[in-house]
Amino acid sequence: MSTILEVSDVHKSYGSLKVIKGVTFEVAKGDTFAIIGPNGAGKTTMFKVITGEVKRDSGTIRYKGEDVSDKTEFERVRLGMGRTFQVARTYPDVTVLDNIVVAIEVRRAARNENAPHWYNVSLRADIVAEAEEHLRDLGLSDKRDMEARFLSHGDKKRLELGLALAGMPEVLMLDEPTAGMSPQDRHATTELILRLREEKKMTVVITEHDMDVIFELASRILVLNHGEALAVGTIEEIRANPLVQDVYLGKEMYSAEG
Ligand SMILES: Nc1ncnc2c1ncn2[C@@H]1O[C@H](COP(=O)(O)OP(=O)(O)O)[C@@H](O)[C@H]1O
Ligand SMILES: [Mg+2]
Repeated sequence: MSTILEVSDVHKSYGSLKVIKGVTFEVAKGDTFAIIGPNGAGKTTMFKVITGEVKRDSGTIRYKGEDVSDKTEFERVRLGMGRTFQVARTYPDVTVLDNIVVAIEVRRAARNENAPHWYNVSLRADIVAEAEEHLRDLGLSDKRDMEARFLSHGDKKRLELGLALAGMPEVLMLDEPTAGMSPQDRHATTELILRLREEKKMTVVITEHDMDVIFELASRILVLNHGEALAVGTIEEIRANPLVQDVYLGKEMYSAEG
């Protein structure tokens, strides 16, 4: 299995606060790689450093063998990364359809697809057709013409997932995709991610609080604690790791095991 993402000895501080302290891990193509850890462990910061939203202070991030540590977020999208945010970022005042349309246009611009005939009418029809396909994938077709701000929390998170998917990423980065969801929405979203992962053959990097979601989705897990990599391994290895049990998961993991 080939490596798609390589994080080597990455450090990141905000002022004097050391948030990521020498973290190293690899994600293989086709993995669903979960980053878990208590609140404030540095999961979201790790995400930002990988996607380029913030720059690491030292260390290296390689994507498909290429050093992207100093590349912008846009350049990384162009290379095939896509992400969602812990707090959903959608365009509240435009319709669900047009949210997806914008994401498709950004992707096409980033990857120079269809250039230079950008504003041509038949191209718009082509983009709308693609957007409608994404909405079907997401189960949002009936909300097509609704302004995004009127969506329920669960649908907003789903739309955000759709915005990331419209970027047709090879690596999809999901920062707490089920945060704040009802158990029912959480289950539906987990199923959706499972299905899309199969259909689109994507590598997924995910942070998540909910252990049931992790155990259903993840092939490998990184446990972060105070910005340090406590353990990396399969679900079984992480469950069996005494350090992880002591410091973080303990009872929760045993109960999750049933
Ligand atoms: N932009 C920022 N400026 C200063 N401190 C930050 C910033 N973002 C996060 N932090 C701090 O970094 C630590 C890790 O945060 P975060 O990466 O969001 O953790 P997690 O996602 O695991 O909850 C926390 O102590 C948080 O307060
Ligand atoms: Mg977070």
